[in-house]
Order: sequence, then structure tokens, then C-alpha cells
Amino acid sequence: MVRYLGKPWYVGIWEGQDYLSNLERTQEDVKLIINAARDLERKFKAKVPTPYLQGQTLFMFFYNRSLRTRNSFEAGMSQLGGHAHFLSPQDVYTPTLPEDMEAYKTEAIGDVARVLSRYGNAIAIRIYADAAKWHIGRGHRVIEEFAKWASIPVLNMEDDVFHPFQSLADVKAALDVVPNLRGKKFVVSYAYSGGLKPLAVPQDVAIMAAMMGAEVWIAHPPGFELMENVMEAVRGLADRYGGSVRVTSDMKEAFEGATFVYPKAWSPKAFFPPFSADGKVHKEEAVEYQSRFRNWIVTRELLEEAGRPYYMHCGPADRGQEVTDEVLDTYEKSLYFEEAENRLHVQKAVMSMVMGSRYE
Ligand code: CP
Repeated sequence: MVRYLGKPWYVGIWEGQDYLSNLERTQEDVKLIINAARDLERKFKAKVPTPYLQGQTLFMFFYNRSLRTRNSFEAGMSQLGGHAHFLSPQDVYTPTLPEDMEAYKTEAIGDVARVLSRYGNAIAIRIYADAAKWHIGRGHRVIEEFAKWASIPVLNMEDDVFHPFQSLADVKAALDVVPNLRGKKFVVSYAYSGGLKPLAVPQDVAIMAAMMGAEVWIAHPPGFELMENVMEAVRGLADRYGGSVRVTSDMKEAFEGATFVYPKAWSPKAFFPPFSADGKVHKEEAVEYQSRFRNWIVTRELLEEAGRPYYMHCGPADRGQEVTDEVLDTYEKSLYFEEAENRLHVQKAVMSMVMGSRYE
């Protein structure tokens, strides 16, 4: 019989706070989350009950599809003694920004947020790409609008600028194999995909690597620059935490001698507002443009030549485009499934921190 021994130190330490971006956090905060996540991981594997959010409800709005995010939040909430409620925006009056309202099809985000605040304990949202009309930054604005009106914590499950829980999971995977990232070469690289993926993951991973004091390399073909305000933040974090930032258009040069490589696709932002010259969305042209970079694929040979770095990807990886089957299935230093697993542990940590209470 396993006994529940009371609340650990992290439950409720940030009670009531939103989690929208890691830019609102510090290295010290991230280390607290990692420590809490490790405690929850250990208890999960030892089957120790962790009912820190008993009776609580997390409302989850998925404007986009998901495997890892949805299932790790749902499983996480039930493991913490609560419930995660899945909401497909099409099946309710779609929560919408004021400028996009349509009678009896949409509902103001402010009203949705205030109604759900009376029923439950946190609201989590994923919105990017078509759901955010491919106007980069609009998805993040939707999440900020929820946060403005909700009286319960709002959690960002990925928008078109940030994916904070992914980069927390990633940094835990990295720290589990290399306990101090300071001075370690950490490459965030473009890799080809036939699909159009948001900038959220590379941007958040660059933020997190800089926050850990790593030597951050960002590799991409011309046209795949990250958002300038994010790059400024990454440089600021590197200055603050003793790291550095370098940008190159040569994948091989970037990989050479790296400790970690994180090659994944994102979209060339000049084809989308507010970055496109005419302010319009050009999806087909973006797909055509990125098809010129099919040679940005990760192979075992590339990794071996670079000195066998740890391979990282948030998933889902496009096999045969971003990476070969061989790397995903047999490369000994792949952290692909560790990163996916860590979504569960870091999200449980943050939910315990912001939804939990320090008092009985
Ligand atoms: N990495 C990630 O967010 O995965 P899903 O799209 O499966 O949620």
C-alpha cells in the first residue's frame, strides 16, 4: 500500500499565475520546474500517488491537432487527481478575437474565459497556422486575450511564436544527459518538411538554450530567419547567462563539434503577414520556396561526421524529409522519445505550481 505523504514544496508556489512564455521566467524558475518534474517523474515511475490537484479541471482548447500535447496534459491531470476537459473550438461557439466575430458561430474570448473561470481551475490553448489565419503573432494574441479575461491560470500549449512546455521538456531531456549546458554547443537548425510548421519550437528552444548559458547556433537557409524580437531576447539571455549566439546558413558547419542538434522545420516568415511585403498570406509560394531546401535532412552520416551530437526533435518528425528513419529508429544518441516523455513531467510540474494551493 503506497501512502500519500502530503504536498511537496512546489505545489502552489506560483498559485494563480499564467504560463504563456518562458521569456516571463528566469533560469532559476526553469531549474525549479526541472526539479519538480524530476520528483513527479520518480513518483510516476514508482507508482506513488500525486493527488495535488484533486477535483480540479483543466479546460483545453485545441484549434490544431496534437498527439503529445493533448495526451500528456490529459494524462498529467488525471495523475494529479484532476480532470482535463477537451474542447474542440468548432464544437462550441468558437472563442474569437473581437475583429473576427460572427453572429451565433463565435463567442468573444473574454466571455468564454470568464464563463470557464467559474467552472474550473485553468484554461490551456493551442492555436497557430490556419487557425490563426497565418498572421504570425495572432495565435499568441488569442492566448493573451484568454489570459487578460480569465481569473484562473492560462497555459500556452503552443501558439505561432512560442511553445513553452515543449522547450521545458527539451531542456529537461538535455540536462538529464549533460547536467550543465553552459558553454555547450547547442544547434537549433532548420530541416526540410513539405508541410508548413510554425516558428514556435525553434524560437522557444533558442530561448531555453540561451537561458541555460549554452553556445547557441541557429542554422537556416536564407528566408528562414527567426522573429527579430525573439532573436533580441535570445541575445539578451545569452548575455545574462554567459552564453553566446551565432547564426549560419551552413548546417554542416553548425553541427560540427556540437553537443546537441535540434533540426526541425519551420516556415519562411516573409510569405506571411505581418512580414510579407503585401501583407497577404502566400502558403503555396512558401511551400514552393522551402522545397528548394530538401537537402536539409538529418542523416546518420551527418551526425557521425559532426562528432555524434545528441539528436533532438519535438515530434512529430517528418521521416524522409526532416530526418531519416535510421536516425529516429537506431541512432544511439537520439533524445526524441525522452523529449516526448518529458512533456508529461514538466507539465505536471507547472500545473502543480500554478493550479495547486500551498494550503490544505
Ligand atoms: N511536440 C508537440 O507539440 O507535439 P504534438 O503536436 O503531437 O502535440
